[in-house]
Amino acid sequence: MTISYSDRFRQKDAVESYDSKEYGSGSYSAAIWQLQRPVLERILKDFRQRTERVRLLDFACGTGRVLASLESLVDSAEGIDISENMVAVARTKCVQARLLVGDILASPELLQKKYEVISCFRFLLNVEPEIRGRVLHRLREVLRVPDGRLLVNVHGNARSLRHPAIAWRRRRERTEKSGTMLNEMSPAETKTLLRESGFQVVRQFGFGILPPTLYRTPLRRLAVAVDQSLAGDHWWNDWSIDMLFVCRPC
Ligand SMILES: C[S@@+](CC[C@H](N)C(=O)[O-])C[C@H]1O[C@@H](n2cnc3c(N)ncnc32)[C@H](O)[C@@H]1O
Repeated sequence: MTISYSDRFRQKDAVESYDSKEYGSGSYSAAIWQLQRPVLERILKDFRQRTERVRLLDFACGTGRVLASLESLVDSAEGIDISENMVAVARTKCVQARLLVGDILASPELLQKKYEVISCFRFLLNVEPEIRGRVLHRLREVLRVPDGRLLVNVHGNARSLRHPAIAWRRRRERTEKSGTMLNEMSPAETKTLLRESGFQVVRQFGFGILPPTLYRTPLRRLAVAVDQSLAGDHWWNDWSIDMLFVCRPC
């Protein structure tokens, strides 16, 4: 039986493995986060300079990875997630942020105020396609118009050099049985979804060009150095594995 994305991270073993394996020391995700974090902090600092007050919402905050890094850069921070167990870990990392557990589609009143910045990391790609647009529409309703910003991340680009490996694994593994998530979205597909949900992409950043397999070989240090030099806001972003879109409401 396939487990829904909303339920996946309610399970204690998934919560534990998220921080200890997915973001464990030496993992590919941890290496990408090292590149992404300063960029994200810079975006928030720049935004803070031209805005009187910044209220941040981190949607699907999980164990608080993003929120813990950003909460001190804003006037107020909130995180919301459907998994009590993920939020329990976030509570140990976040000092200032207010943390909520709930489903914003079933209980839209969970989000009542307007936010200047909403972040949404590692959610869009793996959630069921029919939920994506509904969540984005609700986030659009609580984003400040016209100058609020949505910072949305898609961590599996269908146009990246990782695609052949994912396609191969998809063929080999019966993904529904193994529970492995091998989803991908292209930049064009993501932008269409965002546009249909009321957002216009104003900047795009990319992280990780080389196939992650290299990180598990003696070439790891070289791969890290290459990915470091290619990360950011460049013309080759459409080929990065991990994408960050800065969007404004339209
Ligand atoms: C891969 S984790 C990402 C956590 C965090 N954003 C990060 O980047 O580290 C995905 C998160 O989405 C949450 N989630 C799944 N469906 C959700 C929903 N319908 N509403 C809110 N959160 C949801 C899960 O509980 C999980 O914490």
